Amino acid sequence: MYDGSIIAPRSRGPGGGAATATSPTSTSSRHVGTSHETWPDRYAPQSLGDVCGHKAQIAKLQLWLGGWNSNLKSDFTRPGKDGMGTFRAVMISGPPGIGKTATARLCAAAAGFTPVEFNASDARSKRMVDIQVNTSNMALDRWTVRAASTSTVGVASADRTCVIMDEVDGMSSGDRGGAAALAERIRSTKVPIICIANDRGAQNLKPLISASYNMVFSRPDTFAVRSRVLSILYRERVTVPVHVVEQLIQGAQSDVRQVLNILQMWTVLKHGMGTEEGRSAVATLERRPVMNPFGATHQLLGSRTSGTSSMDMLEADIDLYFHDPAMVPLFVQENYLKTTPDRLHAVVGPRKVVEHLELMDKAARSLSDADIVDAKIHGSTQYWSLLPVHAVQSTVNPASLVRGNGLGYTGPTAVSFPQWLGHNTRQIKLSRQLAEVQAKMRPSTAVDGAEFRLWYVPGTLPHLVRSLVMDGARGIDSTIRFLEQYNLSREDWDAIVDVGVGDNASAIVLKKIPTSVKTSFTKRYNSRTHRVRSRKAAARSDLPGPPAHDKLYPDLEEIHSVSVELCMVAVGFHYAVQSDDDMLDDGDDRDANTPGSDAFILPPRIAAVAARGGGVRSGRGRADRGHTARGRVARGRAPRRGG
Ligand SMILES: Nc1ncnc2c1ncn2[C@@H]1O[C@H](COP(=O)(O)OP(=O)(O)O)[C@@H](O)[C@H]1O
Ligand SMILES: [Mg+2]
Repeated sequence: MYDGSIIAPRSRGPGGGAATATSPTSTSSRHVGTSHETWPDRYAPQSLGDVCGHKAQIAKLQLWLGGWNSNLKSDFTRPGKDGMGTFRAVMISGPPGIGKTATARLCAAAAGFTPVEFNASDARSKRMVDIQVNTSNMALDRWTVRAASTSTVGVASADRTCVIMDEVDGMSSGDRGGAAALAERIRSTKVPIICIANDRGAQNLKPLISASYNMVFSRPDTFAVRSRVLSILYRERVTVPVHVVEQLIQGAQSDVRQVLNILQMWTVLKHGMGTEEGRSAVATLERRPVMNPFGATHQLLGSRTSGTSSMDMLEADIDLYFHDPAMVPLFVQENYLKTTPDRLHAVVGPRKVVEHLELMDKAARSLSDADIVDAKIHGSTQYWSLLPVHAVQSTVNPASLVRGNGLGYTGPTAVSFPQWLGHNTRQIKLSRQLAEVQAKMRPSTAVDGAEFRLWYVPGTLPHLVRSLVMDGARGIDSTIRFLEQYNLSREDWDAIVDVGVGDNASAIVLKKIPTSVKTSFTKRYNSRTHRVRSRKAAARSDLPGPPAHDKLYPDLEEIHSVSVELCMVAVGFHYAVQSDDDMLDDGDDRDANTPGSDAFILPPRIAAVAARGGGVRSGRGRADRGHTARGRVARGRAPRRGG
C-alpha cells in the first residue's frame, strides 16, 4: 500500500533540502529510467555539493590538497595551520557506502588534480607495489614521480595527479607487506596519496597509519541522506513515503549505497515501496550484522528475555553458529561455565548448586557428542551435511542449557579466547617431537605410539633428569651416556622433559636443575660427537604392520585423569611395530640391551597385540573440564587409522 506522498526536493521549498544541492548539469545530463546502471553509480555525486555530510573532512582535504605545492617546496617540514602540512598522504577511514571514495575523487578534482584510483580488485601485493615502485613502467611509479604522460594502462596522467588507494585494508592476508611497501612509497611521493580503508584498526594498516594523516569519516545523519535519496527517487519517478525512506536509512545505518541498491531493487520488482515492504527490507538489513565470535558468544550465552518463539530462537542461534562454524563452538566451550543459568531462576538453597552442576553436565555431554559429529565432518568422511547437527550439539544446545547472566566484557568472567587452539598447537608439536624420539628409540622399543608414551617415556624421564637434579654438573656425563645408549640427542632430552605430567611436569623438573648445570650440559653435549640413527620418523608409515588379528587397546579414557592432553599425544601415533629383523637391519648392534640393570622399565610386551589399527579413541584437550571429549585430534588431521 502506498500512501502516495511524492516528495520532490523542489516541493520542500528553498533551503529545505540543504544537502542535496545537485548541480543542474548532472541532473539534466542523465538519462533516467532505461539505463542498466545501478543507482549508486548513476547517482554518484558529481560535485562536492552532492555529497551528504562530511563537510569538515571535505574542507580539510581541500586545504591539504590546495597547500600541496607549497608543502612540497618546503619538503613537508611546515605543519601549517591545520597541522596537515607535514603529511604526504591522508588515510580516510569509515564504514562502507558513506561516500569516502566519492569524496576523495571529487576533492582531488576540485583541487585541480587528476585522481588516479587503485582499488581492491587491482593487484596490490607487496610485490606489485614493489614492481610499481621499482621498474617505473608500471602504474604507481608513473604517477608518483610524474614521469611520462601516459601509463602502461593507457591512462593519461596529468601534471597534477592524486593517487587514491581505495580499500587498502583489502590488502589483507594474501598480500601482507603491501601496506608496508605503500607506506614506504608514501615517504617519498611527489604527488598526494589518499588511502581509503573501512577498518582503521586493521593490523596490516599500522605502517600506513603512521605514515599518513588520519581522517575519520562517520556515518552522515539520516536527515542529510534522506534529502539526497528523496531527490533521486523523484528523478526516477518513484513514489516512496518519507518515513519508509527514513526507516531504510536508519536500518542501513546511513549506508547510502545500500539504501539506493535496495530501493532500486524494489523499484524493478514492484514499482515502488510501501510501508510493509519498507519494513521487511529493513528487517533483512538488520539480520545481517557483522559479528565476531566474541559477539556471537555473548548473544548465545547471555540472558534472554522471552517473547520470541522457540522456533525463531533456534533459528537465530543456528545463525549465530554459522557466523563462524569453526570458532563459535570453541568459544562456547571455553565460556559456557561462566554464566549463572537462567534456568536456575526459581531454584533456591542447596538445590541450586546441584541443578547447576546438572546443567553443566548436560552441556558438557552435548559438547562431547558434538565432537563425534565434528569428527565425521572434518575426518575422512567429510559429511558436511552434518553441520546443522553440529551447530545444535556444539552450540545451540549447550547455550540453551546454561545461558544466563554473568558473562562480562572485562574481568574474570569476560568471554575469553578458546584455549583449545593453543593446546592443539602444543599437542601437534609434542606429537611430532615424540614421534622423532620414538623412531630413534625403536631398536629398544617395540610398541605403538600410545604404549610408548604411556610406558617408555615415564620410564626414561628419571634417567634423563635424576642425576642432573641430584648430582648437578657431576651428573652430566651419565646423562649424556644414557642419551647415547638410546640414540637420543640433546633436543630429544627437551622433548621428553616437555611431555612430563604431574610431578614430572617440565616446569617443575626444569626448576630443580640449576641453570648453570643446564648450560654446561648443553655445552658438553655439543662439544662431542654422537651416534645417531638415520631412520627418520617420517619413514615410519612405510614400515610393515603386524598381521591383523583381534587386538587389545588401552582404554585411554581411564587415564584421562592423568592428562588428557598427553593421551592425545599418545594417540597421535598408530603405526607399525618394527619387526626384529628390521631392527637388526638398521645396523644397530645394541638394540635390545637396556642400559645397566637398574633402569629401564620394560613395558609388558602387549605391543604385538596393541600395535596397529583403528579403535584407539582420540580426543580433544579438555583437561580443564575433566570430562571426556572424543573425536577430534586436530582439524584437518584425522587420527591415522591403520590396518
Ligand atoms: N555521503 C554521500 N552522499 C551522496 N551519495 C553517497 C554518499 N555516500 C555514498 N553515496 C552513494 O553511494 C555510492 C558509493 O559511495 P562510495 O563513495 O563508493 O562509498 P565508500 O567509498 O564510502 O564505500 C556513491 O556512488 C553514491 O551514489
Ligand atoms: Mg569506496
